[in-house]
Amino acid sequence: MSKARVILITGATAGIGRATALHLARLGHHVIATGRNEKALAEVREELAKDAPGILETLRLDVTDAASIADAVAFVDAQTDGHGLDVLVNNAGYGTAGPTELITDADMRAQYETNVFGLMAMVRAFLPKMRARGAGTLVNVSSLGGRLTLPLMGVYNSTKYAVESLSDALRVELRPFGVQVSLIEPGVIATNFTDRSMSEGDKYRRDSSSPYAPVLARADELRALSDRTAVDASVIAKAIAKAATSRRPRPRYVAPFSAGLMIGFLRMLPTRWSDAILALATGFTKKRFGLGLGAKSPTKTAQLVA
Ligand SMILES: NC(=O)c1ccc[n+]([C@@H]2O[C@H](COP(=O)([O-])OP(=O)(O)OC[C@H]3O[C@@H](n4cnc5c(N)ncnc54)[C@H](OP(=O)(O)O)[C@@H]3O)[C@@H](O)[C@H]2O)c1
Repeated sequence: MSKARVILITGATAGIGRATALHLARLGHHVIATGRNEKALAEVREELAKDAPGILETLRLDVTDAASIADAVAFVDAQTDGHGLDVLVNNAGYGTAGPTELITDADMRAQYETNVFGLMAMVRAFLPKMRARGAGTLVNVSSLGGRLTLPLMGVYNSTKYAVESLSDALRVELRPFGVQVSLIEPGVIATNFTDRSMSEGDKYRRDSSSPYAPVLARADELRALSDRTAVDASVIAKAIAKAATSRRPRPRYVAPFSAGLMIGFLRMLPTRWSDAILALATGFTKKRFGLGLGAKSPTKTAQLVA
């Protein structure tokens, strides 16, 4: 095993974060699994105690709450005699599925608060000790959606594009200080993520008067397609472990392999072609909206009326 490291993971109460905390603790690292739900954190501790040794501590931490982050810094300092973290895994995040035009400012800001500002607040809190020591690793969980934009996930994807850009800048800026920065780009993973993004987007989906109703009515079909291709969170836990423990981690880890193929394929195509493929796959076609050949488009109708 590589040298044992002190690793803090955000959003470790479920899905990828939980799987990563257990995996890294089983590898013998000193893991601080954090999250908002104390009961779920206790379950993570019990799960580890069942089958393996390893140091796994849990801590309540909401990445959108400055006081909670300050408490986490104090906790880590106390646990490590002032050494600080070797690795920070910024995993907490969620998305709201819905038509980009309709997602409210409040829902958009809330996603940015967690996925972008929460991540940066964690970086600012834990980076200074790494920089002073001349060692440390930031692992930021982005998404396939940080490289490709999918219809109905535009707002969420934009938060992950922001994570990509901030991480790319940090990676270069922190080079002289010996701090490494890696991005994790998961494809579709079997966690609570899809359920949450569907329920967060419920109010947009259930509105039958929505101009997007023909596609929104198909949400369950799209959901079933995503469920069929989802892979286990352990795949991402292993990618995060590589990024967290390599001497020279890669800038990006895409997993599973199929997600890398999809990024490569769609980015290779002219944008008009990739747009057409995504529109067909998700139902954003004139035919579905009753705007097929021969039908008057809203613009033509408006011109006739005028
Ligand atoms: N699953 C996928 O297909 C997929 C694909 C690409 C990228 N990702 C990314 O992977 C990361 C993990 O998602 P997941 O798939 O494991 O989803 P998940 O099962 O829903 O887990 C998300 C975790 O983030 C936590 N979280 C949310 N807001 C938080 C906050 N303000 N402070 C602290 N923790 C918070 C959740 O805790 P609560 O229970 O308290 O909300 C939960 O522990 C996210 O950044 C997501 O964007 C997921």
